[in-house]
Amino acid sequence: MNPNETPKVKFYSGHDVPVELHKVRIVQKLHLVPIERRLQALEEGGYNTFQLNTLDVFLDMLTDSGTNAMSDNQVSAMLRADDAYAGSQSFMRLQKAVEEVLCQKYLLPVHQGRAAENILGKAYIRKGSLVPMNYHFTTALAHITEYGGSIVELLYDEAYKIDSVCPFKGNMNIEKLVETIERHGAGNIPYIRMEASTNLIGGQPFSIQNLRDVRAVADKYGLRLVLDASLLGENAYLVKQREEEFKNSSMGEIIKIMTGLSDIVYFSARKLSSSRGGGICTNSEKIYGELESLVPLFEGFLTYGGISVREIEAMAVGLYETLDETIICQSPEFIKYLVYEAKKYDIPMITPPGVLGAHVDAMKFCAHIPQTQYPAGALAAAFFLISGVRGMERGSISNQRDEHGNETYADMELLRLAVPRRVFTLSQINYVIDRLHWLYENRELIGGLKFIYEPPVLRFFMGKLAPTSDWPQKLMAKFREDFGDSL
Ligand code: F0G
Repeated sequence: MNPNETPKVKFYSGHDVPVELHKVRIVQKLHLVPIERRLQALEEGGYNTFQLNTLDVFLDMLTDSGTNAMSDNQVSAMLRADDAYAGSQSFMRLQKAVEEVLCQKYLLPVHQGRAAENILGKAYIRKGSLVPMNYHFTTALAHITEYGGSIVELLYDEAYKIDSVCPFKGNMNIEKLVETIERHGAGNIPYIRMEASTNLIGGQPFSIQNLRDVRAVADKYGLRLVLDASLLGENAYLVKQREEEFKNSSMGEIIKIMTGLSDIVYFSARKLSSSRGGGICTNSEKIYGELESLVPLFEGFLTYGGISVREIEAMAVGLYETLDETIICQSPEFIKYLVYEAKKYDIPMITPPGVLGAHVDAMKFCAHIPQTQYPAGALAAAFFLISGVRGMERGSISNQRDEHGNETYADMELLRLAVPRRVFTLSQINYVIDRLHWLYENRELIGGLKFIYEPPVLRFFMGKLAPTSDWPQKLMAKFREDFGDSL
């Protein structure tokens, strides 16, 4: 067997079961409270799943950010942490991991991914700057606009198709990139941003060939290429699965090529290495010099950047674990299972299955709810009500208003059901599919939402909404009718 071959467990029955390649030794009790309490919790939380308390949540599929399971090696590394303001050995170990895994010479630690976006914004974005990207992430966009810049999203049309067989929906549209640079002038473009496993279109990867093409354009116009590597391991895993040239490559080889094509690599360690923190890395001394002084200003000294040294140790180990396909494949394989099982009931899901979570197309699921009444937010609330599963709205509520204060409706209205790494069991995933199936058959009972409190920045975090009718009560009554006294 080729040492880089993807590990696969085949079942005698022929069933495709993503069997867990880990065992669980520390567990946490979950709370599946009655639907009546869940309705009360929704009302208290303004129908916003960010506002729920975990005591009311059964399966927390809000995000994989900071919720991936840590390994035994990560937890034990945290005990040997070297507490020092400056020159900590914990930081040296992290730096070594960055050199060996991400193949980057310089590391600037930051407290989480968006702190990296703030520093890049402060250093490079001016009024009138334009950042071309494959697609925005909420915090990346918010920081660019905060510093007076704007963005342009340059995906191929296929990326916006819910049901697709395109293996790399996260690819940057190269023709549009060239056209954009020609039109706006390279001088107004501080960098091109590529997001690995493009989050908001369903965790969809880009290919290495596409990244090479973006690099060639960046070189032609003398532009920096910034890689958001928060979901780098998963993108590398899907490159291996889907890009012929790399089917026999190791995760390390693929990661090295991706980071090697970029001038700046930044990441949220909450995702990339199953810990906390984040980082900005580069091989360029010049770029390091441009960013260095901003870290002590916003984050903390250069050898901790606002991260606890214990988490720095966990980050280092987590980065090495990114090279292990049996660890990285777990979440994407569970997502694939969830997506294809749900599709057996015709539930509209984003395909091909991506990473980070399974994504339900709320525009189709709730075709009767207009975008002005936030179908994805309504679906997230309805699904929590009938299952205790907390997903996240990734649609118009997650969008920000334009500079004139007008709503900008999202390209896609998605309910994201995150599958953090090595956290859930397959029977829990089966529960999610069962409840999703029931809700799909009762989808006409779901109604819309309206804002009753709308904060000006990143409104999806703290916003409060209310149902446009008594639909939650009617949905609850139908649940009781069908499930009796079941939780
Ligand atoms: N970039 C991407 C692609 C992300 O997915 C995230 C966070 C960030 C940057 C910001 O990192 O949270 O550490 O500040 N994504 C989380 C999510 C919040 O739920 O998808 P952060």
